[in-house]
Amino acid sequence: TVMRKSTQEVIFTTTNLIFSQLYLELTTSIPTMNIYGFGERLYKYQLDAGTYTIFPRDEPAITEDGTAGHNTYGEQTSYLVREKSGLFHMNFLKNVNPKEIVLTSGTVKYKVVGGIFDFHIFLGSNPEEAVQQYQQYVGAWTVPPFWSLGYHQSRWGYKSFRQFEKVLSNYDKYDIPLDVIWNDIDYMIQYTPFALDTYNFPPNEMNRLLKQYKKRWVPIIDAGIGTKRIKENIAYPRAQELGILLKNAKGEEFRGSVWPGDSRFPDFFHPKAEQFWHEMLEHLDKQLSFDGIWLDMNEVANFCDGECGVGPSQKYKNLPFTPGNTNLERKTISFDAVHYGGIEEFYAHSLFGLLEQKATYNYLKKKTPLPFILTRANMFGTGKYAAHWFGDTTSGWTEMRYTIGELLNYNMWGIPHSGADICGFMKDTTPELCARWTQLGVFYPFSRNHNELTARD
Ligand code: GLC
Repeated sequence: TVMRKSTQEVIFTTTNLIFSQLYLELTTSIPTMNIYGFGERLYKYQLDAGTYTIFPRDEPAITEDGTAGHNTYGEQTSYLVREKSGLFHMNFLKNVNPKEIVLTSGTVKYKVVGGIFDFHIFLGSNPEEAVQQYQQYVGAWTVPPFWSLGYHQSRWGYKSFRQFEKVLSNYDKYDIPLDVIWNDIDYMIQYTPFALDTYNFPPNEMNRLLKQYKKRWVPIIDAGIGTKRIKENIAYPRAQELGILLKNAKGEEFRGSVWPGDSRFPDFFHPKAEQFWHEMLEHLDKQLSFDGIWLDMNEVANFCDGECGVGPSQKYKNLPFTPGNTNLERKTISFDAVHYGGIEEFYAHSLFGLLEQKATYNYLKKKTPLPFILTRANMFGTGKYAAHWFGDTTSGWTEMRYTIGELLNYNMWGIPHSGADICGFMKDTTPELCARWTQLGVFYPFSRNHNELTARD
């Protein structure tokens, strides 16, 4: 039992403790139901009793309703709670294995598959004090460059520099302030990372436009390295040469599938992975200089469930408990894939994004004192390197409303530079929804209009 001395209030207990190799369970009492946290999910800020799964995955169009399996892209394992006396504390479980939280009136039950229980409690006299200590502990947050606090325009489907020009001139024509223009996967040849499509996006035309309209430019970089044998694809042969690709249990390259089709994944645990990443970023930067980087599909997302052609792992198929009540290897890499040093994916799943953010940050740091990175995958500690957007939000009123709860969560978790796709990403928006979402969105610290390929402009 942990008790706050000044008020004699019990703030943490460890009843029903189960501690085994693959299953850990513990129930703590909580002083009140003024409780906030556990993510990532699209939901209101204050939690109700319910079941909350934590496991980063590429799951678009999902809102929380307090049942298992409504988790999205991030690993956020802390909560803030008000004590009966009115004081606050923040509780942080430092564990990156799949888990589920069952919240009932007065208790929080943790059900974790693997890892250890490593709890940290930050006491405050008010929420700010508790949160500040937590944020300092996980690495605080990066100061964004001033321009990145402005307004951003993006969409999946700017097929050439001509369309890009149309967007820029429309902003000018209607006198709407705009600071940054983005490119989604369309700027690459066959969606292949680092392979710039110089036919549709000639660097001289792009540079001319960015200069003429005085805009910053941020391109997307996906985590999966395409294997297509085209001369512009320098990433795959170089990754093979350096030996930095993630392996399967047999020691072969782990086969996945993402936007470029057949893909491999860089293993950021490898000591040479950062060198690889910097060489690739520099290759793109030299052709068309960017101001920031957008990291996507980094949970890691995979269009196969486990390894392509093999399926989910045998070794982890009978876990004692399945958080989310669904195949955990759905749309991601197998738990028995092996990182450098023999680390299995099962114990490292959430770390991919963090290590990728760090490698990207270190590259940008060479060209600017204040790097700007936007990431979809996130975990505790991400704020030190990157900003976060909430992924594929559906164009709907409930979704728009819930983005406020999610924004408050990310402020608390130390990634204050956050926001959702303004007007919504999936499905068609409407003029009224888009107008209202823009009114809300200009108050998002990260304020970007972005849209899906098939949805209305
Ligand atoms: C993912 C991203 C989305 C992006 C799309 C294509 O769905 O979340 O923002 O537009 O991939 O790259």
